[in-house]
Amino acid sequence: MSTNEERLSRLEQMRAEALLGGGPVRIERQHAWGKLTARERLDLLLDPGSFVELDAFVTHRSSEFGLDEQRFLGDGVVTGHGTIDGRLVFVFSQDFTVFGGSLSEAYAEKICKVMDLAVKVGAPLIGLNDSGGARIQEGVVSLGGYADIFLRNVLASGVVPQISVIMGPCAGGAVYSPAMTDFTVMVERTSYMFVTGPNVVKAVTHEAVDSEALGGALVHTTRSGVAHLAAHDEAEALDAVRRILGHLPQNNLEQAPLVATAGPVDRMDSELDDIVPDDPHRPYDMHDVISRVVDDGQFLEIQPGWAQNIITGFARLGGRSIGVVAQQPAVLAGALDIDASVKGARFVRTCDCFNVPLLTLVDVPGFLPGVGQEHGGIIRHGAKLLFAYCEATVPKVTVITRKAYGGAYDVMSSKHVRGDMNFAWPTAEIAVMGAEGAVNIIFKDAIAKAEDPIAERRRLVAEYEAEFANPYIAAARGYVDDVIRPRETRPRLIRALEVMADKRDTNPRKKHGNIPL
Ligand code: HXC
Repeated sequence: MSTNEERLSRLEQMRAEALLGGGPVRIERQHAWGKLTARERLDLLLDPGSFVELDAFVTHRSSEFGLDEQRFLGDGVVTGHGTIDGRLVFVFSQDFTVFGGSLSEAYAEKICKVMDLAVKVGAPLIGLNDSGGARIQEGVVSLGGYADIFLRNVLASGVVPQISVIMGPCAGGAVYSPAMTDFTVMVERTSYMFVTGPNVVKAVTHEAVDSEALGGALVHTTRSGVAHLAAHDEAEALDAVRRILGHLPQNNLEQAPLVATAGPVDRMDSELDDIVPDDPHRPYDMHDVISRVVDDGQFLEIQPGWAQNIITGFARLGGRSIGVVAQQPAVLAGALDIDASVKGARFVRTCDCFNVPLLTLVDVPGFLPGVGQEHGGIIRHGAKLLFAYCEATVPKVTVITRKAYGGAYDVMSSKHVRGDMNFAWPTAEIAVMGAEGAVNIIFKDAIAKAEDPIAERRRLVAEYEAEFANPYIAAARGYVDDVIRPRETRPRLIRALEVMADKRDTNPRKKHGNIPL
């Protein structure tokens, strides 16, 4: 019969064994690749000492292919809960040192358990991914495990924030779990995501490409738009998760935390009065507007490297978390193209799910013309952004800094799509199109018949600009609530958000809308 001392000693022994994952040799290999272990990552992610592990004693149940002799406590994934800035989160961290972090039946059950708990108590779920995919020895059981996770990703979507960090391989169907979470952060050089790897690509399309060029952090944050942020190293990636969560509530029924700001709420910035150039064709950097307006100049840009003609990210105004969507006049003149529409739409919906008010800064000449855009489905993709804004019921505050032309005027959180507080700077031009285009159409005959067509066109453009390229026609109809001096933007926005803080708005009851995908 065992004594209590022996029982306690067995527990300690097993705990120590679980901590070792796949053993010291494989841990060393992991470090040699420049990667941390599953547990070291959790230490960086979570508040010190806050991690509580669940299911450390779970092992796989297979005996095929010699698996009987290889049983590791925890079975390749570390799961549990902890806190970030004192707020509860659930986590799983895939352990590449155990069967390459590959997913078994028991492993999937562990992940599903923390996912279910996260939804039950309304706390975010963070997944640290570093895995060789389906545990080959377990076959279809492993595929079933993935599907169990996918289903939970979808059911949790819009209920609790879900964030994925890719810290090693993430390939095959396994990519679809991160793809369905709210944010994906990738580590440069050591992580990759693809549906089919370089060997399959080579065999099927004869394209020679390595993992990094096919699905590395740079590719997915600049070309595909699959990931939201690329980090130089693992610590930076985990810090990004902490920062994102700081802007989100615990779940869809709560508000994001208020954070005290050192910057006075009534701070005016006279530089803003001159930020829009006199020449309407000259660009400026909308980041300057954002940083001069928000609390402490702090802006957490999301997808900064992809579709740079639209800017999306989190900031605070008067301590309140806001989602910023803004045109970038310095890239493609801020025109909306396919990628910008998709990027904006996704971000608007992310904010709307989690009760984060939207600030929209508008300087949009319209949708980007071109055969490529039309054939690529700009109609379908542009509709996503329009749909997302129409559907969003969070407080929506808009500032038109310069151009708001055509359909894009409607799309960008206009009054007509339930914008709550819409402001314009005196530099705003709210019209069907720019003066040149308008004059060429409506005065085509007059210009052709004129003695000096060039001079006549110039005169008509000037006349049109004087008449229409301003915010006052829209203001006369109440389509903008006020024309404000740019320097007043911060206090006016803070006031507007205060007023709208208890906004209640709903959409008609339905199963779900049918956003054009
Ligand atoms: C079981 C696996 C494994 C897997 C790796 N290992 N992948 N064990 N199932 N899927 C084991 C290896 O046997 C090895 O064990 C250890 O993990 C480390 O693997 P290495 O190959 O030595 O490491 P590395 O050279 O870094 O290569 C990593 C890798 C490679 C690129 C991930 O292992 C690999 O290609 N694995 C197979 C990937 C794959 O095809 N997965 C299935 C995809 S389909 P030891 O004992 O030596 O440490 C899929 C479908 C998902 O995932 C379904 C969703 C619907």
